[in-house]
Amino acid sequence: MAEIQVVRGDITDEQVDAVVTAANESLLGGGGVDGAIHRAAGPELAKAGAAQAPCPPGDAVATPSFGLGPRIRHVIHTVGPVWEGGGHGEADVLARCYRRSLEVADDLRAGSIAFPAIATGIYGFPSDEAARIAMSTIRAAHTQVQLVRLVAFDEETYRHLKAQE
Ligand code: APR
Repeated sequence: MAEIQVVRGDITDEQVDAVVTAANESLLGGGGVDGAIHRAAGPELAKAGAAQAPCPPGDAVATPSFGLGPRIRHVIHTVGPVWEGGGHGEADVLARCYRRSLEVADDLRAGSIAFPAIATGIYGFPSDEAARIAMSTIRAAHTQVQLVRLVAFDEETYRHLKAQE
């Protein structure tokens, strides 16, 4: 099982093999963490993403990290569920984002990965429930990734993730 670390910070500062972005189906970039990662990686990231779009909610695809490198080698783009009250399978889709991202990381032989709090920003997923899903899904995953870092951008997200440790 991977070591899981909960940290506060900006995911673009992470020193890991792969960072996960909370994307939309076009993989062209957007606001939030996707915007930060695309700004740091440069315009080639959107071109590489578009070549693999559309990415349905719950799935994940990898591209090179471009300007985020050389320490970060890969960007894994995953699309979270838009929160619609909880009765539309949102929890299952979010769990699939974490599971599929780890499967893609294994395909890349990534030893370390950093996740943002997928779907808890613009997509509105409650951060306490999202933290529970993230932690339980990662703990249950059969992955070769040795280190998983959960990067909280704000205090509330950090508190919810720490509560799941
Ligand atoms: N580092 C780490 N986490 C960050 C950063 C950052 N630089 N910037 C934002 N976050 C956090 C947010 O505070 C939130 O907790 O990432 C989490 C996810 O929020 P969003 O980025 O809004 O992602 P999401 O809710 O999944 O919405 C995805 O937003 O940016 C668009 O293209 C994206 O359409 C997609 C949608």
